[in-house]
Amino acid sequence: MDTEMAWLRVFIVLLSLLGCQRTRAAEIPVNSITATIGESVILPCSIGHGKPMDLSGTRIYWQGNNKARESEPKVAYVYNKGAVEMDRQNRLYQNRTSLFMDELPIGNFSLKLITVIAEDHHTEVDVLFQKNFESGFVTICRTALNVTARWQKPEVTISCMEVAGLTKVLCRTQGGFPEAIVSWSIKNHTLRPDEIKTTQNSTSVQSSLWVNISKGQMVTCMVLNPTLQETVNTSVTATGCEVPGEGDGPPGSPGGIGSVAVVAAVCGVIAVAALLLINKTKRSCSCRQSQTTGI
Ligand SMILES: *[C@@H]1O[C@H](CO)[C@@H](O)[C@H](O)[C@H]1NC(C)=O
Ligand SMILES: *[C@@H]1O[C@H](CO)[C@@H](O)[C@H](O)[C@H]1NC(C)=O
Ligand SMILES: *[C@@H]1O[C@H](CO)[C@@H](O)[C@H](O)[C@H]1NC(C)=O
Ligand SMILES: *[C@@H]1O[C@H](CO)[C@@H](O)[C@H](O)[C@H]1NC(C)=O
Ligand SMILES: *[C@@H]1O[C@H](CO)[C@@H](O)[C@H](O)[C@H]1NC(C)=O
Ligand SMILES: *[C@@H]1O[C@H](CO)[C@@H](O)[C@H](O)[C@H]1NC(C)=O
Ligand SMILES: *[C@@H]1O[C@H](CO)[C@@H](O)[C@H](O)[C@H]1NC(C)=O
Repeated sequence: MDTEMAWLRVFIVLLSLLGCQRTRAAEIPVNSITATIGESVILPCSIGHGKPMDLSGTRIYWQGNNKARESEPKVAYVYNKGAVEMDRQNRLYQNRTSLFMDELPIGNFSLKLITVIAEDHHTEVDVLFQKNFESGFVTICRTALNVTARWQKPEVTISCMEVAGLTKVLCRTQGGFPEAIVSWSIKNHTLRPDEIKTTQNSTSVQSSLWVNISKGQMVTCMVLNPTLQETVNTSVTATGCEVPGEGDGPPGSPGGIGSVAVVAAVCGVIAVAALLLINKTKRSCSCRQSQTTGI
């Protein structure tokens, strides 16, 4: 123990002689990591090349700095002279951080973020290390966090409405970040970007196109997360529509399997009611008229 302390003093003196007792954060290289919202990520940090070290007098701070959001860093974790101090942890990091306790004595100060959240985007997590009371805090690791989120498997619907021989196909998905890149293919042929209309906001993407598609042909919508380089896709096969399209509506007007079903159901109910009425009043039912009032 005594020799260890002696060596430590020599080490500290050497450090101060070298003028690096207080290493400025700017001198530490920043490690960039992209984490996925909802998943866990390890922010690696280790010193001493796996050699056992005495942590009895050591203080270590993990703190997150999101310069765009706040000027002061937030405490993510505190290890103080052999114990974890949870009460000093900022609410932002509560219940979602952990250390590898078994590996602390060999200088592995990696922090695990158990659940990555959107607020972690553009946060720099720094690890500040104080060997003992006599030495100052030294920044030993800097990790820049960017976040991404997976897009859900898209939902593709082929509308039953035809305009000038073209059918509207719609693809929708949500939950991803950053912006998606949507592409389509029909009969194994990839469509040009100018054939597609894609709109998106912070939470969802909607892409549509008008195509000449006939029964049995397959349409695929592919949604790429450019950060993860991950594509989620859905393919649907045109089944053809029971009720032939009447070409009654400009491109972009609402319509589809849903509204056709509703019209059919309304018409059916009214037809049954009308049949019952016919028996008593001998009045006839006009389905087309009912359909108009049913919409
Ligand atoms: C993280 O985001 C910043 C700002 O948008 C960007 O400059 C940087 O390249 C990103 N880093 C990674 C690893 O994607
Ligand atoms: C963390 O968990 C505790 C106990 O389950 C709970 O009381 C506290 O509200 C949680 N904190 C946050 C920020 O979710
Ligand atoms: C630190 O510990 C974590 C968890 O066991 C591990 O993934 C990581 O590789 C370790 N780092 C080093 C440098 O050993
Ligand atoms: C759609 O394709 C069929 C054959 O695949 C063709 O006969 C028809 O003229 C096309 N319609 C339009 C509007 O391009
Ligand atoms: C689609 O194209 C790929 C390569 O261009 C080919 O290997 C595959 O067999 C094609 N699939 C169909 C259904 O034509
Ligand atoms: C994004 O678009 C979807 C569908 O177009 C809509 O339901 C949602 O309210 C929009 N969200 C925001 C934040 O604008
Ligand atoms: C479409 O998704 C399936 C899994 O659902 C995947 O195996 C396939 O590679 C994807 N195709 C493309 C073109 O991304």
